[in-house]
Formats: sequence, structure tokens, C-alpha cells
Amino acid sequence: MNKKIISFSGKGGVGKSTLSTLFLKYLLNNFQELEILVIDADPDSNIADLLGVEISFEDTIGGVTTSFKHQMQEGSLSPGVPKNQVLEAEVFDSVIEMDRFDLMVMGRSEGEGCYCYINSLLKNIIDSITKSYAITILDMPAGLEHFARKTDKNVDELFIVTDPSKMGFHTMHRIIELTDELTLDFEKIWVVGNGFSDGLKHLLEEEISKINSKAVYLLGVIPFDEEISDYNFLGKSILDLPESNNAYKVFSSMLSKIIE
Ligand SMILES: Nc1ncnc2c1ncn2[C@@H]1O[C@H](COP(=O)(O)OP(=O)(O)OP(=O)(O)O)[C@@H](O)[C@H]1O
Ligand SMILES: [Mg+2]
Repeated sequence: MNKKIISFSGKGGVGKSTLSTLFLKYLLNNFQELEILVIDADPDSNIADLLGVEISFEDTIGGVTTSFKHQMQEGSLSPGVPKNQVLEAEVFDSVIEMDRFDLMVMGRSEGEGCYCYINSLLKNIIDSITKSYAITILDMPAGLEHFARKTDKNVDELFIVTDPSKMGFHTMHRIIELTDELTLDFEKIWVVGNGFSDGLKHLLEEEISKINSKAVYLLGVIPFDEEISDYNFLGKSILDLPESNNAYKVFSSMLSKIIE
């Protein structure tokens, strides 16, 4: 498998984090010893819950940058070492090592003032971290701002998740338009319908047929799944879903066609 960064985007609540996690589950089940980094890039959400991990503020990139800023203000950073190296070491330290994958949680920085300088350092650091993994899975925040900031610049493949709703479709179209306007260069854009009955699939097919961007493909639709709801209510990790789970099976069979 080539080195890849794969990002999950879409309207709020359509299942980006759930599908990111099912994607991870698929990789873990089908590839041995693949170096995987999962990045929770949504400041408000917590993929950690879906993965069954507890994260403290200090473990998040927000926590790291907050303490880095304090050290800069207090002048307690050692003068001999370049700032970007100090921050890089701290970011590396904050990567959480799970059994078979690593996890980086962006979270958000605290306190007043501008983080512009730190954020620009951070961008390069994250670019360099992702290079040490075969696959990076990015669970993006809802909405479109991160595209405008070109946070997805280096992403190879983009998944757009939509539910069967007008707003879900609208967001999908806006994302595709933005990737054109901003000349973000994805190898492939995969649209996945989530929470779709088979009877609704044609709605998404019709929407996709209106799009004339050549990199956009409909990967398929995933049904609403009661077991996923149960796991959510019980606070159980989506990674622990049985392989017989219907949504997982449907998604796996789609993924097996596009991932070698
Ligand atoms: N196929 C499915 N069947 C049943 N429930 C689902 C399915 N996909 C997602 N859900 C449920 O929908 C809710 C939203 O899912 P999720 O958190 O993955 O969406 P999201 O797009 O990441 O949301 P946000 O924009 O808030 O980050 C969760 O309660 C999740 O358990
Ligand atoms: Mg989410």
C-alpha cells in the first residue's frame, strides 16, 4: 500500500467519526503491521470515545501548544534550542500509542492571544509526522472552514460522508466546489451515503451524476445500523463491533474494492 493521507469530511453529525473508526477497523483486520496514525482534527468532538480511549488535555495538541505558549511567555524555553524543535519534540511526545495504531488529538488551545506563530510551526510538524506512517486517517470537523484554510492540502483521498438530507447533499456539493476553487488536489474523492436505506440510494446516485468533476466517485451507501446506536448509547468502542456487524460488512466490501 502506498503512503496515504485519508480525510473524512461532511456535514455535522453525518457519521464522519463513525466511518473513520470503521475504516480503521477495516485496516486493522486486513493488514498486519501497517503503521497507522489517526488524527482527531475536530476541536469539539472526541473520536477517542469511539476508540475507547481516555484523553487528558495535556495529551492533546491544544494542551501542548497552550503549555508551549506559556513557556515562551515566561521565557523558560532553553535559549540554545530552536523553538520549532522544542515544539516538534513535544508534539511527538503527545502522540498516544495504542496497541496497533497511534492517535493524535488536536483539541483546542486555551487562553487569550494569537497562536498564529505556533500554528504555522505546527502545520509543518504535522506534515512531517504523517510521513512516518503508512496511512494517516484524518477525522475532520464538520463544515468547510478547514478547506478554506487548506488544512487538507496534502490529503490524497477525501471521503465525503452524507446522510439522506438536503443539507447533507448541499454540504457535499460545497465541498466539491471548494476543492475545485482552492485547487486542492485529491487523487480521489469518495462519496459515501450513511444512514441510507437501499430505496434511497438512487437520490444520491442522481446527485452524483450532476457533478462533472472527474475525481468524484460514489463509493456506496451504508444503512442505519441499530448495533451502532446501541454501542453509542452504551459508550462502547466502535472498534469492538463484531465483524458480523452489517454496517461494517457493507463498508468493508466497498473498501476492499478500493484499497489494495
Ligand atoms: N450507520 C449508522 N447507523 C446508526 N447510527 C449511526 C450510523 N452512523 C453514525 N451513527 C450515529 O450518528 C451519530 C453521529 O455520528 P458521528 O459522530 O460519527 O458523526 P460526525 O459526522 O462525526 O459528527 P460531528 O459532525 O459532530 O463530528 C452518532 O450517534 C453515531 O453513533
Ligand atoms: Mg465527528
